[in-house]
Amino acid sequence: MNTDIVIARLDNGVVALNNRCPHRSAQLHLGWNRGDCVQCPYHGWKWGENGKCMGIPAAPDGPIPPNAKATSYDCEERYGLIWVRLDGAADTEIPGHIVYDDPTFKSVHGPSYDWKTHAARRVENYTDLAHFPFVHPETLGRAGEVTFLTPNIDFRQEGRMRFRYDPPKGARRAMDAKGGLSALAFTDYTIRLPFGVTLDLNLEDGTRTVMWMWATPLDDIHCRSFWFACRNSDQDGPDQPHMDQQMVILEEDVDIVESQDPEQIPHPRDEIAVGPDKVSLTYRRLLYELCKAKADGPGALKTYLNKERENI
Ligand code: FES
Ligand SMILES: [Fe+2]
Repeated sequence: MNTDIVIARLDNGVVALNNRCPHRSAQLHLGWNRGDCVQCPYHGWKWGENGKCMGIPAAPDGPIPPNAKATSYDCEERYGLIWVRLDGAADTEIPGHIVYDDPTFKSVHGPSYDWKTHAARRVENYTDLAHFPFVHPETLGRAGEVTFLTPNIDFRQEGRMRFRYDPPKGARRAMDAKGGLSALAFTDYTIRLPFGVTLDLNLEDGTRTVMWMWATPLDDIHCRSFWFACRNSDQDGPDQPHMDQQMVILEEDVDIVESQDPEQIPHPRDEIAVGPDKVSLTYRRLLYELCKAKADGPGALKTYLNKERENI
């Protein structure tokens, strides 16, 4: 979100600070981790937990100016990722992962990737059902299998939309236990507002592959996607085929998604939708509701987030 952050694993845990040194604006990530602080590379000022100034080498006897404080953000480690909350006033939660802690699943963290598109476009692409025969004719879809049943969307959970995708028999494939492609029975989709998706892929051989993806906005037109591929079979087999297969699919998507102009979802009058675009239309509506709650102020956002929590 146009914010440069330096993240350091200090002795007492992980800290996230704005990357700009408050002294003369050098970038802190060029400096050093000193265990109890991040030391700026320019004049060596030391910044600790909560952005506290821990020392000024050129003025060792003090005093430390009262406004010498680096901007710090809430952060927490979960699923091997560092989650940073830029707005400390928002009582948000780290999104759940349905199988990460489930010992019957092997969860593999894929390499994150940056695309020139807004995070919401990334989510729409990840949950798009009509693009398979065109963008993925040899992998996930089959050329010619162009129709699908528009899914029923479950709205009961605030902040999430769920639906089951039941493809026509033989029309869809998905990553299987060996990292190859096998016939897909159905997929349960969950979109967690604003930019997270879980795909619970159920293959016809009875195994499951759970894909989890969270797109983070780097700025208005770029996003970075973090993802896991989790499988409940072939736990001892190599992970690489799963990663390789996923990379093939991403390569098929990236050029098309980056070609979308504008990179952000535009005003509804500037694109055209039909019935089968229901998933994207619903997602846009929920995103709008979330943005509206945020725009209406902290009270409205709190109500929205509480409602979301009650319904988990
Ligand atoms: S700019 Fe960071 S210590 Fe001077
Ligand atoms: Fe795709």
